[in-house]
Amino acid sequence: MPTARMVVDPAFRVGPVRPRTFGSFVEHLGRCVYTGIHDPAHPSADVDGFREDVVELVRELGVTTVRYPGGNFVSGYRWEDGVGPLQERPARLDLAWHSTDPNTVGVDEFVRWARKAGVEPMMAVNLGTRGVAEALDLLEYSNVRGGTELSDRRRANGSEEPHAISLWCLGNEMDGPWQTGHKTAAEYGRLAAETARAMRQLQPDLELVACGSSASDMPTFGAWEHEVLTHTYDLVDHVSAHIYFAEHDGDLASFLAAGVRMDSFIDSIVATADAVRAAGKHDKRINISFDEWNVWYQDRAESRPPSGEDWPVAPVLLEDRYTVADAVVVGGLLISLLRHTDRVHAASQAQLVNVIAPIMTEPGGRIWKQTTFHPFAQTANLARGVVLHTALEAPTYESARYGTAGLVDSVATWDEEAGELVIFAVNRGIEESTELAVDVHIEGLHLLEATSYAHEDHTWSATADDDATVLPRPNGSAAVAAEGGGRGSRVTMTLPPISWNVIRLARG
Ligand code: AHR
Repeated sequence: MPTARMVVDPAFRVGPVRPRTFGSFVEHLGRCVYTGIHDPAHPSADVDGFREDVVELVRELGVTTVRYPGGNFVSGYRWEDGVGPLQERPARLDLAWHSTDPNTVGVDEFVRWARKAGVEPMMAVNLGTRGVAEALDLLEYSNVRGGTELSDRRRANGSEEPHAISLWCLGNEMDGPWQTGHKTAAEYGRLAAETARAMRQLQPDLELVACGSSASDMPTFGAWEHEVLTHTYDLVDHVSAHIYFAEHDGDLASFLAAGVRMDSFIDSIVATADAVRAAGKHDKRINISFDEWNVWYQDRAESRPPSGEDWPVAPVLLEDRYTVADAVVVGGLLISLLRHTDRVHAASQAQLVNVIAPIMTEPGGRIWKQTTFHPFAQTANLARGVVLHTALEAPTYESARYGTAGLVDSVATWDEEAGELVIFAVNRGIEESTELAVDVHIEGLHLLEATSYAHEDHTWSATADDDATVLPRPNGSAAVAAEGGGRGSRVTMTLPPISWNVIRLARG
């Protein structure tokens, strides 16, 4: 059996585990909002029409922030349509997803839902068809206590307290030719800078995210970030990153190596941001808001919006059914995000319900967990304290898409106060188990729990009838022993083929 060796030392810290790494995304797209989080006809619906059973699973998932209302949707969105008496709200065509939005849910409802779900709302403004004035209006409506036309309108609409939204995206994927109001880097950079400047005049302590590239293979990737940040450096805090992976042409080995591309994408964005920092003689650093990442099968029919005369409300769109292999890839992407906790300061898995989502619902009916629910929930609920540098030596293989990949990838978090170390690891081996041997420079560790998420059929996916056949299961091979010389502990575990694994250890 191949062996991967790792050394973990609590002195070598990458940075804090950031709660915002475990964010998600709710877009007015398909059935994410309507018949997803919002379904007044559902037996569990609250007074606002939000499904309680969805809220419960969102809490179990451990989601911390939720980005809203898009995505491509936001680039044609008029936020005013979604506030005020329901019977007066207009239905509008959504050009991005060729749908009709009834505007039953808007910013007030979303913030109420977010408070109920215990998540921080992250708001995007429309810089596609709109600009500085409308962004300021939304900020005034949301965050000013009262005494102005728009803040008093919010109060009259039933939200007495300000929404207090701190984290704002300056548009969405403005580099993409598919984006309504698509712009060049120079056009967008100027608009983002002016919008950020004005928003800060209203509220200086906002956290602002400038749009980075919508994928690592965009022809403008790199040059886009450089130009946009040159315009906005002093005015924003983060640059966004988006990436989606899929298995192409049955090349599972490459797909399982997606984390390799995620790592290099992050490293390239950091390098570009730091180049702008040096060229502009700036002190502060720009960090990354990885506000869209996931597995997404974009070539499948359900990813294509309707067309022609048909502009449905809440059509079935992007309802990918995820396999065990997809979940292992999601786990690998979480490892990459944690490993870069020094520069990735927020992230949103796209999306939360029904649309490329860990949670699925039937309109008015059942709810279930997709395979991808499990790695996210385990990481969000167990990663605490600081992320540690790991010296990892694993056998490698050549993947056609992403080059050399380690058979195993892993990261560790250390919660000094609780005395708890957690090791997260994926085995990318398709046929074979791999032995993981970790030398931990902490004495007296004992095993709390070791689990593996794997199945002999890696194409297995959950349904409304069965979402529990494959769960993270105890892995009996995990063991801890005192390392010779009293320097710490030796942790070993056999990682099954195509698996996501978690080892929890505690001191004392
Ligand atoms: O998450 C689905 C879509 O992917 C978003 O609307 C867009 O921002 C991205 O291209």
